[in-house]
Amino acid sequence: MSTYKKYEKGFINYAHRGASEYLPENTLLSFYTGVYMKANGIETDIRRTKDGVLVLFHDNTLERVTGDPRSVEECTLAELMELDVKKDGYTDKIVVFEDFLAKFAFRDILFAIELKGEGVEEETADLLRKYNLVNKTVVTSFQFDYLKKFHAYAPEFEFGLLTKEVTPELEAELLALGATEICPRATLMSAEDVERWHKMGFRVRAWGVKDEEIMKFAYDAGVDGMTCNFPDKLYEYMNK
Ligand code: G3P
Ligand code: CA
Repeated sequence: MSTYKKYEKGFINYAHRGASEYLPENTLLSFYTGVYMKANGIETDIRRTKDGVLVLFHDNTLERVTGDPRSVEECTLAELMELDVKKDGYTDKIVVFEDFLAKFAFRDILFAIELKGEGVEEETADLLRKYNLVNKTVVTSFQFDYLKKFHAYAPEFEFGLLTKEVTPELEAELLALGATEICPRATLMSAEDVERWHKMGFRVRAWGVKDEEIMKFAYDAGVDGMTCNFPDKLYEYMNK
């Protein structure tokens, strides 16, 4: 019998790095706008600064969004605070993970927290526990090793693997480990895959939703949620 459980909130429209189509990604401006656009989830990425602070940042280097060639891991928090994250004439600052939690944890939304940098597993779990987010969070990563380490330290959290290729061996390993989600690239899955994963007991959350066509395809394929840079358009489609 399938152990598949839908989210109580129904479909989850995760503002991906906030409303990142419109505003500097992974900033408060972007997260607040995602909430304003009626996203019922926020997705973000965790890395650690040189002086040990967890911050929200996606890329391996700061170049694309700030113009600085260094990485988060090469900078202290004070050095990061000197930088501006930019997008289409808007500017904001890199956010400390705990500051984000203090501002968003109490809200009636879910969180998809991606372990992006190395060695952030335990402190991420400690902070999510501190802000009582056990029942509102799914922890994800492309790095299976990070997830295994996270799960060993904090088995009470739901977790899921971000992946491009889903093999039967991977499905079996995820099931055996107790993963609750499978997170396929939206363009590399089908409605039949989604149905099969549901029967196996997984929730399915799509990523890589680059445009509205892909968004509609993934939604119609029956996924349980997706990360989307334009949560306003997804909200409109969900409510058609
Ligand atoms: O939904 C997860 C998604 O964020 C994965 O892609 O590149 O944004 O980390 P990326
Ligand atoms: Ca991410």
